[in-house]
Amino acid sequence: MNKRKLLFNALGSVMLLASCGGNVTSENREMDRFVSELMGKMTIEEKIGQLCQCSGGFATGPNNTKIDRTEDISKGLLGSMLNVSGAANTRKYQEAAMKSRLQIPLIFGLDVIHGFRTGFPLPLAEAASFDLDAIERSARCSAREAAAAGLHWTFAPMVDIGWDARWGRVMEGAGEDPYYGAKVAKARVHGLQGDDLSDESTIMACIKHFAGYGAPIAGKDYNSVDMSMGHFANFYMPPYKAGAEAGAATFMSAFNDFNNEPCTGSEFLLRDLLKDKWGFKGFVVSDWGSVSEMINHRYAADEKEAALKGITAGLDMEMVSECYSKNLKALVEEGKVDEKLVDDAVRRILEQKYKLGLFEDPFKYCNEEREKSVIGSKQSREDACYVAERSIVLLKNDKNILPLSKDVKRISLVGALAKSQKDMCGAWSCADVSKVVTLYDAMCERGYNVDYVEGYNLENNKIVDLNRTLSSARNSDVVIVAMGERAWQSGEMRSKGDISIAEEQQKLVSELVKTGKPVVVLMMCGRPVIFNEVRKNAPAILCTWWLSSEAGNAICNVLWGDYNPSGKLPMTFPQHNGQIPLNYQYKSTGRPTANGEWCAKYIDIPTEPAYPFGYGLSYTTFEYSDLKVNDSVNGDVYANVSVNVKNTGKYKGEEVVQLYVRDEVASVTRPIKELKGFEKISLEPGESKTVTFDITDEQLGFYNNNMDYVVEKGDFTFMVGTNSKNVQSIKYTLK
Ligand code: NOJ
Repeated sequence: MNKRKLLFNALGSVMLLASCGGNVTSENREMDRFVSELMGKMTIEEKIGQLCQCSGGFATGPNNTKIDRTEDISKGLLGSMLNVSGAANTRKYQEAAMKSRLQIPLIFGLDVIHGFRTGFPLPLAEAASFDLDAIERSARCSAREAAAAGLHWTFAPMVDIGWDARWGRVMEGAGEDPYYGAKVAKARVHGLQGDDLSDESTIMACIKHFAGYGAPIAGKDYNSVDMSMGHFANFYMPPYKAGAEAGAATFMSAFNDFNNEPCTGSEFLLRDLLKDKWGFKGFVVSDWGSVSEMINHRYAADEKEAALKGITAGLDMEMVSECYSKNLKALVEEGKVDEKLVDDAVRRILEQKYKLGLFEDPFKYCNEEREKSVIGSKQSREDACYVAERSIVLLKNDKNILPLSKDVKRISLVGALAKSQKDMCGAWSCADVSKVVTLYDAMCERGYNVDYVEGYNLENNKIVDLNRTLSSARNSDVVIVAMGERAWQSGEMRSKGDISIAEEQQKLVSELVKTGKPVVVLMMCGRPVIFNEVRKNAPAILCTWWLSSEAGNAICNVLWGDYNPSGKLPMTFPQHNGQIPLNYQYKSTGRPTANGEWCAKYIDIPTEPAYPFGYGLSYTTFEYSDLKVNDSVNGDVYANVSVNVKNTGKYKGEEVVQLYVRDEVASVTRPIKELKGFEKISLEPGESKTVTFDITDEQLGFYNNNMDYVVEKGDFTFMVGTNSKNVQSIKYTLK
């Protein structure tokens, strides 16, 4: 096996493309001059102040001091606030900052995770769209609304790869795949930041949580992370790197330890990899209290040592804990911290303030008129519905129960979630709950004859008045059951040991099916869930996740076929908790999983998932044919793979055509297949299209054990299909 080509060494260098890039332009020179001049006037206290961020409102973590910091702000001793929003509210604090000696504006950050006051589907749900334009559109709308409410910064996107559905925060990411995760990261950064941070409708993105936060041992939030560097480089790193390449203005360090160091104090991650190797020019913020949590990690004896480790590692801004404000000055005076480290952090923060245009006009984001017209606008609602429709995944549709006929007269709508505005929003929501359209609202609005029955109690999941529910079903043309988790059951600190849907809810579905009426299940969840009884008994299942403000409208559009579902699962759904962590791109092992005895499998549970990665049906059907490899190509392209896709059903539909690659033999062990391309196409009934994927370094390469990105000669298998399991294969040899 010859190494063909060394592409990048030591975890790759990054070509910075967008706003925080290193290009020397006249604009950058002007910024350098401005920032240098300003820093020349700053005292050490004022410099350290820029590195401090406090929470101004509600808590999104423990130990929220809630002390009014207005006086510190007017003394120039604070650089940023989180959890403050609203044009009037932020103006109040900015006015205090303008009383400070050097009038350095504050930046306001908030977790705008899936839409602002107009809520969008959970990030995991949006990822199911496999529609990068839709994902970018969602981020753009979040930015537009947030920026109109005085915000400059969101702590998003979370780009952590998740293979463990017990970890409640999978709801906030793009799922399990690094290739796709990297594309989504880029779309989200671009949506939030646009091409120009000074534009009043853009805000700073924050790539989080650097690094490896999505792989806590046993899926327990905040737990330790332990992985080899090869595993990190190939499976977890790509979305972070893509975020840096896309020009994200900020990164957030993760709570967990990585390679035996808390990420917040990891010089390897923050300084060597992110800032030096990847050339990241923005700034790094800690996670909530994670500087002082280095004491809990037993990596720092006290707050002073935590401050020392943070600043040395390259952690620029401290969120909430106060190790920097209390200790950095002494550390500099004692010669333990070179002031140049403080200066570097200050410069990075001031540069972003400059790029936001805040030195020109500190109040440019505090415009109450704009706030009123932008938030909840028609455009926002349309965008939210558009993205929500595309996030829904059709899991089962026996006998083509769906789409429902417009002539359906009587609907039995079962399940308390069908009426819960709050649950529809999902975790990490900023949405205006009172403006959420529930499924019940949307059906009534469309004039359907809806008999709503609670079905089960939302608090304890016990069946409520089964007789009443069954009689409603018997008197209907169709039964629609809204079921699943509660919104608060996924998200931060929501890890679960059992991701099964409550037994009673599942039983209720079985009882409803026995009435002989067509039953459509809407699975509402923030993560992969286990619902084997429902999977077996219900004839039609849609995974609707949490879709937020336009949930009811989007679901109705899909139920009645105004939009033909096109979502695909961005995470594998297990059949059993014991299968977790579960992902499609596992390695062969020396004893590959098979039906035999001496192989990688369980003796008491299946190895197959409930639904594989990339799975999702449509109301129409697609036929794949004529898979070909063509290697008579030029330039950076080694070959291209093409396939013909035909819509063989009777509805217009969209299909996500997926390309997987297997490196047959390599210098390190490689997965059985990896997603390396996808294209979402739209086809009229009877229409065909040829989809072509270019095979380049991106499709064939990997990080070897020297952490070099290499492409090796030899045999590959290309697989193209409708999901990670159902594929057609073709061989290719790179000579
Ligand atoms: C803790 C979370 O881990 C992080 O993602 C979030 O941005 C901060 N809290 C601020 O709310």
